Amino acid sequence: MTPALQRALTLPGDPVLRPLPRQVAVLLAELYAPPRLAAHLRAVHDVAHQLVDWAERHYPQLDFDRHAVLFGAASHDIGKILRPEELSRPGSAHEMAGHDLLIARGVTEGLARFARSHASWNARHQHRRPAGEPRRQDLEGQARH
Ligand SMILES: [Fe+2]
Repeated sequence: MTPALQRALTLPGDPVLRPLPRQVAVLLAELYAPPRLAAHLRAVHDVAHQLVDWAERHYPQLDFDRHAVLFGAASHDIGKILRPEELSRPGSAHEMAGHDLLIARGVTEGLARFARSHASWNARHQHRRPAGEPRRQDLEGQARH
């Protein structure tokens, strides 16, 4: 692991960010993730953690999979390891690449799905798109993250 990736994964930061779930941190280290990606995933994971805590506090009857949400937040852009050009410009190739990467690494579909669905509003019904089929976001010309 490079020193920069080590710092991105372990330094508390300012503001202080929670560490990534161990399974994701290990994967990022093994795959020599760009430090910028690790920092982004830590930030998104931390915000997800705050939202999950808020939801549990205010809606205790709400039924959702806390572990899955946090894993998804922590790993959603992992496909950018394989598609690094999408770290700095729009693109959606990292989504399925990330899903397939996680599956190849033994992650269950229930946790890997976030990598392919995180840019979709209708993820529940999302499946592999036929080649050439535009995404809603592409039609709107939005930057992808
Ligand atoms: Fe993304």
